[in-house]
Amino acid sequence: MMTQTMIDTFNEQINRELYSAYLYTSMEHWFMKKGLKGFANWFKVQAGEELTHARKIMDYINDRGGRIRLKAIAMPDCDWQNILSVFENSLSHEEYVTSEINRISELAEEEKDKASEIFLQWFITEQIEEENSINNIIDALRMIGNSVVATFDMDRELLQRS
Ligand SMILES: [Fe+2]
Ligand SMILES: [Fe+2]
Repeated sequence: MMTQTMIDTFNEQINRELYSAYLYTSMEHWFMKKGLKGFANWFKVQAGEELTHARKIMDYINDRGGRIRLKAIAMPDCDWQNILSVFENSLSHEEYVTSEINRISELAEEEKDKASEIFLQWFITEQIEEENSINNIIDALRMIGNSVVATFDMDRELLQRS
């Protein structure tokens, strides 16, 4: 059994993962409205991944005999200035999530909870990947600038993500 502090902390992380899914779903539909189905698809897949992260933590809490308590999910933004600012927003959100996961990992260390430290390693690696893929898209978007043709090319490319 985990300490109550760890259980509470993991419950908060479940909320962050569900909020991430909610935010990315909001971004998905901002792109849908703009007719950019590829960008929308990218965020749809991303939202789905965040749901699997939440599930992973739920399974872990259950395995360790803890109790899952779901909290209210905050309202995400639903409007952005342009494509680049959507991705900058998602990057800063992921950086926040990364810092929280690092914090939980430090807490696990303080609590001498080895199992949680090991469990969190997967999330630490996952955060590197997520920040990296968003950074790559941001780099590409900066290169593209205001080119409509290049934007549609990129949209077609992002439609491939599954
Ligand atoms: Fe996540
Ligand atoms: Fe994420």
